[in-house]
Amino acid sequence: MPSYQRVAAAPKATGCGLGFDASVLAFCEFGAPTLEVREGPIRYLINEFWTSAQRQAHSLHEVSYRACFKPQLPAFFITRLTEPGQAVYDPFMGRGTTPVQAALMGRQPIGNDINPLSTLLTRPRLAPPELQCIARRLEEIPWNQGEISQPELLAFYSPQTLRLISALRAWLLERCPLDRLPDPVDDWIRMVAINRLTGHSPGFFSVYTMPPNQAVSAQSQRRINERRGQTPPDRDVKTLILRKSASLLSDGPMTPHPPALLGAGVAQSTPAIDSSSVQLVVTSPPFLDIVQYADDNWLRCWFAGIDVSSVAIANHRSEAGWQTMVRDTLTELARIVRPGGHVAFEVGEVRNGKVLLERLVWDAAEGLPFDRLFVMVNQQAFTKTANCWGVSNNTRGTNTNRTVILRRH
Ligand SMILES: C[S@@+](CC[C@H](N)C(=O)[O-])C[C@H]1O[C@@H](n2cnc3c(N)ncnc32)[C@H](O)[C@@H]1O
Repeated sequence: MPSYQRVAAAPKATGCGLGFDASVLAFCEFGAPTLEVREGPIRYLINEFWTSAQRQAHSLHEVSYRACFKPQLPAFFITRLTEPGQAVYDPFMGRGTTPVQAALMGRQPIGNDINPLSTLLTRPRLAPPELQCIARRLEEIPWNQGEISQPELLAFYSPQTLRLISALRAWLLERCPLDRLPDPVDDWIRMVAINRLTGHSPGFFSVYTMPPNQAVSAQSQRRINERRGQTPPDRDVKTLILRKSASLLSDGPMTPHPPALLGAGVAQSTPAIDSSSVQLVVTSPPFLDIVQYADDNWLRCWFAGIDVSSVAIANHRSEAGWQTMVRDTLTELARIVRPGGHVAFEVGEVRNGKVLLERLVWDAAEGLPFDRLFVMVNQQAFTKTANCWGVSNNTRGTNTNRTVILRRH
């Protein structure tokens, strides 16, 4: 087991040339001064750097996605490492937290994810339509033309609700096929509908089920229904879409920002993004095989007409395979990030802290044109005890996230 040593208490400037190091060490908005710990070649900086307090995030972020990070994380780095108008990129964008936050801060949003679902979740929120336009468009949908072609979905929906969902799905598939740029209002309605498909409150189309970012199989849902003695109720699909739209738009409009660039491909090869064009990358890849993105998103993909079995989502059981994927991604990022720009690469705790993914990332960057600056550990309610931050004690539930910071030289 590695040993850890508390080597210095901050704030103090150690001078990385750009002042970012000093600004991180001096940071104490939510916690105590930053603690610095050295483990082998890696400097860990520990503090509550960003808070998860919901009120701090714009309402446009309120769409669920498995293993998404809080908008406060990209906001922390965008504030310190970029100027308005500069490009901020996430190669594994998921629901699009980084590009949406970048746009809200007037930066150019660039995003990529192997699953085209991510573009459907992100693009509409970068240019949200007005609520009246959404309400008008919802009135144009032929709601009475839905058919039940997939009876197994009756585990989630009443026959009437499933007919409404099918009508909307058919209308959207016809009007906005995935290979064409859609009308922004249709695009918005699709994004909201995708987010209302399943969940555990009457605000969703389904009967009570798992949280909305985790669709169970129809068979598991039948078991949940039996256990809870529940039958899917009728839902007013149109009203639920409008209500969620109002909630997403409640914090006001999107900030003017440079045009977005969104892609659906592997992070390791993104030829559509120009070399040396990005100032900052804030990202979080899949953590080994912890999350089953294809299974969790099967119903969303069905609704959107995406064949999820054809999407090669990274799912690595072995550390070596995962590290190769990270290395290939960092190699591509070295091409895209301009000299002086940064990469903030976030990983979570896996295997009860037995595998420290940040070290695999650190080693994967060896020999690439990056300075490996440090690893930031976001520890909420930080106390000054050196072993409370989840690396040295390997305990369950410390639930810190770690962000490897690289600077392109
Ligand atoms: C941890 S999630 C990212 C969540 C994101 N930070 C957010 O806030 O929503 C990882 C994402 O990586 C995507 N992914 C998996 N393999 C990929 C690959 N080879 N290239 C690009 N994206 C990939 C998955 O589809 C998933 O959306």
